[in-house]
Amino acid sequence: MAKTDVSRIGILTGGGDCPGLNAVIRAVAKTLMHEQGAEIVGFLDGYDGLVTDRTIPIEWETVSNILTQGGTILGTSNTANPFQWAEKQGDEIVTTDRSDQALAVLSKHRLDGLVVIGGDGSMTIAGELAKRGVSIVGVPKTIDNDVPGTERTFGFQSAVAVATDALDRLHTTASAHHRVMVAEVMGRYAGWLALHAGIAGGADVILIPEIPFDWNAVFEACLRRARKGKRFSIICVAEGARPEGGKMVVRRRVEGSPDPVRLGGIGRLVTGTIEQNTGIVSRATILGYVQRGGSPCPFDRVFATSLGYKAAQLVADGNWGRMASWQNGRLTDTGLEDVAGGSRTVPLDHPLLAVARSVGTSFGE
Ligand code: F6P
Repeated sequence: MAKTDVSRIGILTGGGDCPGLNAVIRAVAKTLMHEQGAEIVGFLDGYDGLVTDRTIPIEWETVSNILTQGGTILGTSNTANPFQWAEKQGDEIVTTDRSDQALAVLSKHRLDGLVVIGGDGSMTIAGELAKRGVSIVGVPKTIDNDVPGTERTFGFQSAVAVATDALDRLHTTASAHHRVMVAEVMGRYAGWLALHAGIAGGADVILIPEIPFDWNAVFEACLRRARKGKRFSIICVAEGARPEGGKMVVRRRVEGSPDPVRLGGIGRLVTGTIEQNTGIVSRATILGYVQRGGSPCPFDRVFATSLGYKAAQLVADGNWGRMASWQNGRLTDTGLEDVAGGSRTVPLDHPLLAVARSVGTSFGE
């Protein structure tokens, strides 16, 4: 690892938690301490701690024995944004630009750079801070797998494992009671989680945001199985899926959040509509936050550690304004400016769509 005169580095975790955050914190901190003799400062609760100046020192002991722990030892926030700082004033939420305050906190701590572990929202903010002159490196996390500039995010495989296990378990009740069992998985505006878990769990129907579905095709997929003597069906629906000409189902709005929309509820709509139109008894299960919880799977432990190492390398090389990433089968990095503002969805020519169709899975087309 090349050595620069980097000696004090800040680190924070932003956005929704996912398995592997601690593995990245550990890898970044241990690598920089070991290779550079650097001091590490942890900001609490993501960008919230950066604006309000809440920190903890990170020692070797702090990051010892955290590889397998879910969540994040630093805490996180998926609402705090220094550029649009939201505060309640009476009944109203007022947003102000607190980026100057964040910059003052960074210089108060005499930091040579900042490592931000987060999803697309956190990377967009990191890109804005980089434009303001902050030496910054990003690491992409999320169970949604939707960060542009990387083909994989850590946390995703762990969530796929949870959702797949749920689909396996739903098979038994589906088969015993001759029902349609619908599992709603997270993923926001991207169908990666539903696609991977649906294939791994042998779902008969997979509904994703990228392919608005035709109700009749979904009914027909269940009825066709019934006609063949298969008296149950398993449906894996992404929270962002919607019928042709319809809208995504919004569970709640979190005002002041960079993206206030929180999706959820399509699983129940699909279940009720199938039961009404086919007469087959149907039940919904919404997997929710269990998909983000618990210990990272072995793949995510390895991947998160590798991304953390890569981020530390970028820091040590003084290669600022970059995000550690995975592309074309190797660990690499990409410019934060290419990550900002986007969401990586499933392309309609993605090979896994053909794989699923070839084994008879319907996308409700
Ligand atoms: O981005 C991760 C994620 O779990 C999404 O899959 C989901 O739509 C969203 O976060 C839920 O956000 P919140 O934790 O604010 O309910």
